[in-house]
Amino acid sequence: MSNYHIKHLEEYFQVYRKSVRNPEAFWEEIAEEHFVWRKKWNNVLSWDFTKPEIKWFEGAKLNITENCIDRHLPTRGTKTAIIFEPNNPDEEAEHITYFQLHERVSRMANVLKDHGVNKGDRVCIYLPMIPELAIAVLACARIGAIHSVVFAGFSSNALSTRINDSDCKLVITSDGSYRGNKTIDLKGIVDKALEECPGVKNVLVAKRINTKIDMKAGRDKWLQPLLDEAYADCVAEIMDAEDPLFILYTSGSTGKPKGMVHTTGGYMVYTAYTFKNVFQYREDDVYWCTADIGWITGHSYIVYGPLANGATTLMFEGIPSYPDSGRFWEVIEKHKVNQFYTAPTAIRALAKENLSFVEKHDLSSLKVLGSVGEPINEEAWHWYNNNVGKKQSPIVDTWWQTETGGIMITPIPYVTPTTPTYATLPFIGIQPALMDEEGNEIKGNQVEGRLCIKFPWPAIARTIWGDHHRYRDTYFTAFKNNYFTGDGALRDAVGYYRITGRVDDVIIVSGHNLGTAPIEDAINEHPAVAESAIVGFPHDVKGNALYGYVILKETGETRDRDNLRKEINQQITEHIGPIAKLDKIQFVSGLPKTRSGKIMRRILRKIASNDISNLGDTSTLLNPEVVQEIIDNAL
Ligand code: WT7
Repeated sequence: MSNYHIKHLEEYFQVYRKSVRNPEAFWEEIAEEHFVWRKKWNNVLSWDFTKPEIKWFEGAKLNITENCIDRHLPTRGTKTAIIFEPNNPDEEAEHITYFQLHERVSRMANVLKDHGVNKGDRVCIYLPMIPELAIAVLACARIGAIHSVVFAGFSSNALSTRINDSDCKLVITSDGSYRGNKTIDLKGIVDKALEECPGVKNVLVAKRINTKIDMKAGRDKWLQPLLDEAYADCVAEIMDAEDPLFILYTSGSTGKPKGMVHTTGGYMVYTAYTFKNVFQYREDDVYWCTADIGWITGHSYIVYGPLANGATTLMFEGIPSYPDSGRFWEVIEKHKVNQFYTAPTAIRALAKENLSFVEKHDLSSLKVLGSVGEPINEEAWHWYNNNVGKKQSPIVDTWWQTETGGIMITPIPYVTPTTPTYATLPFIGIQPALMDEEGNEIKGNQVEGRLCIKFPWPAIARTIWGDHHRYRDTYFTAFKNNYFTGDGALRDAVGYYRITGRVDDVIIVSGHNLGTAPIEDAINEHPAVAESAIVGFPHDVKGNALYGYVILKETGETRDRDNLRKEINQQITEHIGPIAKLDKIQFVSGLPKTRSGKIMRRILRKIASNDISNLGDTSTLLNPEVVQEIIDNAL
């Protein structure tokens, strides 16, 4: 038997050594014993980080939905696959069994086929956290269509950019969505986006909030009647292990969003194996990840990883503060959740509320607590440990990225002793390296550097949709023969890793990855703005918040500053979404620049963080005088 389920620390070290000594043999064994393949591979791995080209299980044939659904039917058909907990706690939760999931995915897959969606076509999914979202994802995978889920908090502008970048021919959306006591007009956002998207032939609309919406004749159709009529079985398309499974966009430090492409076989093996171990999932456990399926966390650890293990995965439509700040804890008690996976920003927000919100709920079902998306600070870690886990549930601080597909550095609960703020040890098969600025690996312990990964793992993204050069330049050129993560990290005396944060121009706000460039582009489109620069500064709930420095055009100089601030944030909301709004906006006469014209963000970051003691040498700047002005007027 392969080491599918790690149970103690000695075993972790032993399996880890095995996985790095002979990765091919290791992953081959896992793949062979725990998944169903229509045909086995000819070759486990071929790779070249200079091209870059990475292929896992080449020549193998499979369909991931047969692994996530069909193979469970004989033994787990009546087991709940998905628990749907609606936004409104008075609305009944839905339990979807594996049998029902099979039927609903098949119907959706047939509807897609009836609308001309073929293997390899791209389908955009813009849905709230309702069962149709998971079902649509799986229906695409069933027929070999490539799904591109766009988080339903993104604006029409962000949506149309993503639809066009990957030429989606069909969009699945809903009339609207619930968010606490508000509703959001999703269909209106889609209609606006599609004014810019001539390639979209059909829009399938799920009914959720029952509002009256516009339906464009010939293009838009209500989903439910089509599902009702569709055949309840759909033959799974046989896919190559390296066929794309999905595209998911993530921000880069410059330019347009990057459509990360994940392929089928390796992604399946890695997300399933990490899920099993990082959450120590056992049959009949109820697992809940609070992320949205619009992010990679939801793809890998709400849908694919759990379902590939035949797990029960909970989908929550609502928000942590509705109807009150006890909602998470109420849901844990109600569904007897065993593994709970959330983000530090949510923990920090809930930690500010009265403790009685937590204390009045029975959380004794919990066995494992997870954290993801940004570094978890010590205070939040202890609050989570003391009040949610009652010091009985290990916290797994899981470091990974959209690009990595699955969890990379993490404790294994009940196996790895945890230390607050440390993601601890590399997962099985992961070979991290810390690099100095010259590109040399820093060996040994008690060192700090740029975090790279030396060797491919099965779930690494294979390319950026339509731009393989950018993929190479972004991840594989800074450090030769290494994947560069964009993060800094330190390795302590015992070899534990602590992620220190981004070393590029990406800012993590409330666990969301935001590039500075797209936000600056949005601001610069305001007619009164000449130029802008965005930096992050520490925020006690969001982790980081955004601070904008804005130079006005002469025509803007006379305008009311507070109105301008509102308009600038409105501009950002329209271009990207409310998550990218600025907390502070300072109007400046210039930005500190190097002689080559590059903005010195380091200086701006320090000023925004109120840390002006050590600004470094500013004399080489093109315009050193502007620094004092910015300090004097800092917010
Ligand atoms: C960036 C990736 C992985 C799914 C959610 C975010 C930061 C993520 C941690 C962690 C410290 C973390 C990194 C990373 N990050 N998890 N446990 N500790 N930092 O995916 O949007 O692709 O963002 O999130 O900076 O590079 P993403």
